[in-house]
Amino acid sequence: MVMNNPFPQLFYGTAWKEERTETLVDQAIRLGVRAIDSANQRRHYFEAATGRAVANHIQQGTVLRSELFLQSKFTYQQGQDHRLPYNPQASLADQVRQSFASSLEHFQTDYLDSLLLHGPLYRQGISAQDWQVWTALGELQSRGQVRHVGLSNVSAGQLQEWIEKTDVPITFVQNRCFAALGWDREVRQLCRQNGILYQGFSLLTANIREIESPRMLLLAERYKTDLASLVFAFAHAVGMIVLTGTTQADHLMADLKALNLVLSAEDVKSIETIAFSR
Ligand SMILES: NC(=O)c1ccc[n+]([C@@H]2O[C@H](COP(=O)([O-])OP(=O)(O)OC[C@H]3O[C@@H](n4cnc5c(N)ncnc54)[C@H](OP(=O)(O)O)[C@@H]3O)[C@@H](O)[C@H]2O)c1
Repeated sequence: MVMNNPFPQLFYGTAWKEERTETLVDQAIRLGVRAIDSANQRRHYFEAATGRAVANHIQQGTVLRSELFLQSKFTYQQGQDHRLPYNPQASLADQVRQSFASSLEHFQTDYLDSLLLHGPLYRQGISAQDWQVWTALGELQSRGQVRHVGLSNVSAGQLQEWIEKTDVPITFVQNRCFAALGWDREVRQLCRQNGILYQGFSLLTANIREIESPRMLLLAERYKTDLASLVFAFAHAVGMIVLTGTTQADHLMADLKALNLVLSAEDVKSIETIAFSR
């Protein structure tokens, strides 16, 4: 079932595009994408170039700032290279504020729609550092400079603990979505139970074996669609916001169109359990 939420249901992912970033983000907006996912992490994202494409569209009047959903992330120094968007000697709260200020400059805007913690410091549990970062994100949100805050790369255990401890509403979780784990079933279930929206990435690249299975091929044939569209239609049907970082205009158009493809409840279940019932 599709959750009723006011956010775009497909985000354009801007990682790994380097010198093609500006052109590809420009293309995405021209093709109708209204949500952009970035991170202030120069190692994988060229946020200044993403921001230029966005700002050009706004200046040219092809889209209003209020029609766009701009999301960035705060990344710990451990996930960065030498091109840091903050002073590493500063407190973590200041690093969050500096990273955020730099993202605003990149996007030439005065607010972000969403800012995520790119990932907890450790694979398990919530560290004191995570808590300092989360508190700083919450302050940006309470001042209205960031509309929504959320988490990325969290396990079910971490999310459960976060939900129990936080006073700051978690709007989003952004995770790599493995079909082998029931498409991140545990985390998605926690999200659903707690009014958190799940953003799924690597839907295609993390699940090649399942996607190319006979069952998926049969379903794609039955729905007269391609495998990528089938995956995006499924993800949408179970309430995920989907991320795509495709570089191809025809793939992006197909991804957008896939959100209108209605799958039967039985077929959704069959895809959801594909890793457990072959
Ligand atoms: N939070 C995190 O830690 C994190 C980590 C990774 C990614 N992300 C976000 O998620 C975004 C998406 O990353 P991703 O890992 O899902 O991979 P992706 O960058 O979207 O890559 C998808 C791959 O599948 C291919 N493809 C074939 N048909 C496609 C179709 N119809 N639609 C889309 N792709 C198709 C693409 O090739 P073509 O280019 O030829 O279409 C590309 O090689 C990133 O840009 C980033 O914003 C976040």
